Amino acid sequence: MLPVYDPFSPEVMADPLPFYRHLREHDPICYLPEYDMFALARFDDVLEMLSVTDGTFVPTDGTLPDPGVLRKHNNGVVHYPTTGEPIPPYSTFGPPVHELLRQAHVGPLRAGAVKRLADFIREQANERLDLLLPRGRFDLTQHYAGIVAGAVQCHLFRLPLSEAKYVLDTVNAGSLTDADPQAPRTINRYRPIAELIEGIVRTRRKEGADGGFPLVDGLLNLELDGRRLNDTEIAQTLSVVMIGGSETVPKVVAHGLWELAKRPEQLAAVRADLPANAPVAFREMVRLCGPAQWFARTVQRDTTIGGRPMAVGQRVIFLIPSAARDEREYGPDAEEFRWNREIKRWVNFAWGNQFCTGYHLALLEGAILVEEFLRRVPEFEVQADEAVRLPSYFQWGWNELPVTVPVER
Ligand code: HEM
Repeated sequence: MLPVYDPFSPEVMADPLPFYRHLREHDPICYLPEYDMFALARFDDVLEMLSVTDGTFVPTDGTLPDPGVLRKHNNGVVHYPTTGEPIPPYSTFGPPVHELLRQAHVGPLRAGAVKRLADFIREQANERLDLLLPRGRFDLTQHYAGIVAGAVQCHLFRLPLSEAKYVLDTVNAGSLTDADPQAPRTINRYRPIAELIEGIVRTRRKEGADGGFPLVDGLLNLELDGRRLNDTEIAQTLSVVMIGGSETVPKVVAHGLWELAKRPEQLAAVRADLPANAPVAFREMVRLCGPAQWFARTVQRDTTIGGRPMAVGQRVIFLIPSAARDEREYGPDAEEFRWNREIKRWVNFAWGNQFCTGYHLALLEGAILVEEFLRRVPEFEVQADEAVRLPSYFQWGWNELPVTVPVER
């Protein structure tokens, strides 16, 4: 018998998949009284909730509230953030403020702009492989994909590429859950990232925001309720890009390559035409290997999801890996890795107001990292006994995944 589902329990953090299976089957809209919160386990319910874009569901308690926040029930009263100085993290706003802040910086992450990064990413991947392959053994998550993801962030933020490791390590440190999972985890954990970006914003303000550095200039020039944002507010808003951009792709690439290594026929099929197949395989990797477990919303007006009433102030979390394994959406083999699965719909990047702004970059970066690794490495072995998955209540991903490769003499 499984214990009751609780996202913060050590059992769930150790292996959430049996819990998700149980919830999908028996309690798909599970109520957790301790947190006055619902957990959505089925694909259709998650998509139904995310498709409501009129401000009914807004993360006013944060997208990743810690247990202490959730134990304080709202009792029918929601605390909608104001645009007074200083604004809180931008994800806590609903429309229209969230959309204004998002549109002000998202230009360099749009499809066309991201496409122009392909050669840079490929070059970075190859530089890493030049360095790593002669060693015969390295960590796929951090040493390969992680440093490349960090370098892409440096490029976007106009930092020297030598800062890639600092960016990666600092984001990783912020994402760790304490040995005590009940300890509060707030955006302040990422303070060093915000400080790094604040320096960039300060310099840019002095240079003049003429639109040539759109990631920053859009926010410097934005008028929000008749005022400009200060450097700290802009840095806090942009830190989500650096955090989201550094932590997920590396874990998906490393775990995904491992899934292929476990299935030699699939690996051979992907290798048969790498430029065409790596982007397809990477989508399946995102579906099954994404580390984020859930994100939260707070109900702003009485409503229903899947026919279940939800009242103002209650919270809802959507369980991404559970929805991604829902047999109702992906068929009877939904839990299986199948590199060329046709994925018609997915919620791995969320949907609606908070849809991942890094979507295009993630897919491009991931596909290139997979393609270049497989092109340069004819054989590799994952050292499964030494793989490290650190406890975290919102992520379940391989922080370290050592591989060995034959060394040419
Ligand atoms: C495979 C890789 C990735 C996955 C699976 C992923 C997934 C997600 C998800 C599920 C959300 C929504 C959170 C919510 O609804 O509360 C999100 C938001 C976000 N992601 Fe990603 N992400 C990935 C890569 C990236 C990259 C590469 C970047 C940066 C370039 C990025 C930047 C962001 C940002 C800034 C948001 C907040 C969007 C907003 O609130 O407007 N992500 N991501």
